[in-house]
Amino acid sequence: MTKEEMTERIAKLKKEKSAVIFAHNYQIGEVQDMADYIGDSLELSQKAAQIKEKLIVFCGVHFMAETASILAPEKTVLIPEIKAGCPMANMINASQLRKWKKKYPEGKAVCYVNTTAEVKAECDICCTSSNAVKVVNSIDGDEILFAPDKNLAAYVARHTEKKIIPWDGYCYVHNNILARDIKEKKSLYPEAEVWVHPECRPEVIDLADKVVSTGKMVKEARKTKKNEIIIGTETGIIYRMKKENSEKDFYPARDMALCSNMKKINLKKVLRSLEKIIYRVEVPSEISRKARGAIEKMVEI
Ligand code: 13P
Ligand code: SF4
Repeated sequence: MTKEEMTERIAKLKKEKSAVIFAHNYQIGEVQDMADYIGDSLELSQKAAQIKEKLIVFCGVHFMAETASILAPEKTVLIPEIKAGCPMANMINASQLRKWKKKYPEGKAVCYVNTTAEVKAECDICCTSSNAVKVVNSIDGDEILFAPDKNLAAYVARHTEKKIIPWDGYCYVHNNILARDIKEKKSLYPEAEVWVHPECRPEVIDLADKVVSTGKMVKEARKTKKNEIIIGTETGIIYRMKKENSEKDFYPARDMALCSNMKKINLKKVLRSLEKIIYRVEVPSEISRKARGAIEKMVEI
């Protein structure tokens, strides 16, 4: 089937089954072009709860589809590729978190949204890359167990008086962006600003003009008067930024900053997902209830 034929078939099935397609900002161009909604992990999960359609094809990684299912339990959430997981989200499991909490009985557990539903169910409150500092500062308690990203934990630690105890997790895509990559790009494009995701290493954060989530990067790209920006995150986001701001130039801080799991989804798999109604992402009701509590606490803040 050609790309055009697949696109047509997807559009027809979407109508017949009253489905919507969600795509995370890191998805490949052909998937973004087909999507009804593009966004960051939390934006999309919240959208899942707002829309009237009951069938969602979530093009992203597993924890994102799971979060959508937690916030919209009455809907069917599909992920087109079952192997599209987030390695960082799998760096801590519920039993490890329980043991860690026992070691620090006074500590409050804050879980990044990049965690499994089981881990969210065990934590005190959830956070995203855009609200982590605000969430931590809102907590009644001085000792914070922050999981799983040590880099985001280090970023938060710079913006709070509280004691941050980090889990030793990281995102390989962001951790592989080095200070020397930023310096090299800066020497090629001296007029460019540097925007990085808070999952980057502290020494990379030190070189940035802005430290922002993917959702915020997209919004800032529309607003900025700057015409050249070096982007320190997964390079898939540049497709959307360029499409929305064709007059501006966006340079990847590291050309190979690619999340291989995000790239596992393509048009063919979206079509298969709609045809066969696979792969359903379901969260057991008790875990879902507890995890939703941690997410709702964050949303209140
Ligand atoms: P956002 O929440 O900023 O979309 O980031 C998700 C992610 O996986 C970053 O690597
Ligand atoms: Fe996970 Fe990193 Fe991929 Fe985001 S970019 S989904 S944090 S591995």
